[in-house]
Amino acid sequence: MAIIASNFKTNHTRKSTATFIEELNSFLDEKSISSDVYVFPTATSLDEFNTVSNLTLGVQNAYATAKGSFTGEIGTEQLDEFGIKTILIGHSERRHILKESQEEITKKFNFYKELGYTIIYCIGEPLEVKEQGLEKTLEYLYEQFVGIDTNYENLILAYEPVWAIGTGVTATNNDIKAVHSAIKQKISKPLLYGGSVKVANVREICSIDGVDGTLIGTASWVVEDFKQIIENTKDL
Ligand code: PGA
Repeated sequence: MAIIASNFKTNHTRKSTATFIEELNSFLDEKSISSDVYVFPTATSLDEFNTVSNLTLGVQNAYATAKGSFTGEIGTEQLDEFGIKTILIGHSERRHILKESQEEITKKFNFYKELGYTIIYCIGEPLEVKEQGLEKTLEYLYEQFVGIDTNYENLILAYEPVWAIGTGVTATNNDIKAVHSAIKQKISKPLLYGGSVKVANVREICSIDGVDGTLIGTASWVVEDFKQIIENTKDL
């Protein structure tokens, strides 16, 4: 069954998030869709949503703490309030824009692993690495697993080439296939693809060998589109 995840990034308000979740939930319920659907809203939009069992709300980021003095961050005390048990870790925007190091990412991973969170762990190479070929790309990607327990039971992986995120440029099917099959040989965990996935290409991408679903930003923010994406992949 396909795993379909929406990363809101810095989009939607508390109000529009609630409307989105409500509409999405009714859709999954009425159509009896059994795909595993995840939504990662902004931290300010978290709430106790009453959803079907295959719709899970997660957090885009949190600090490796229950609480404390970490200005601007949130910890598990804030997540527990809403029963959040799912987190994105290692997203390229946090690695590259927010400068999170592999060491910090590892610390976060271990903290949330200890608590049994479902972790969607993201990896991906920048364009200059991709241009050096598959071998170098894989070398770079494997570095992003340093310190990460790839046997962790509640782990989902997401391969998101940095050059394909938010750019409208999707990796070719061959690129995706090559990276996914190499990773799958080493790690037997669900592996999502992300990077400019949209209504028009989601079925084709999710049908590639070794692709277990997708993590979507831009194309998932309009609920009608996200519903269509789920519709297009519901039997995969
Ligand atoms: P995008 O983002 O769909 O806008 O390319 C994907 C992601 O960052 O997860």
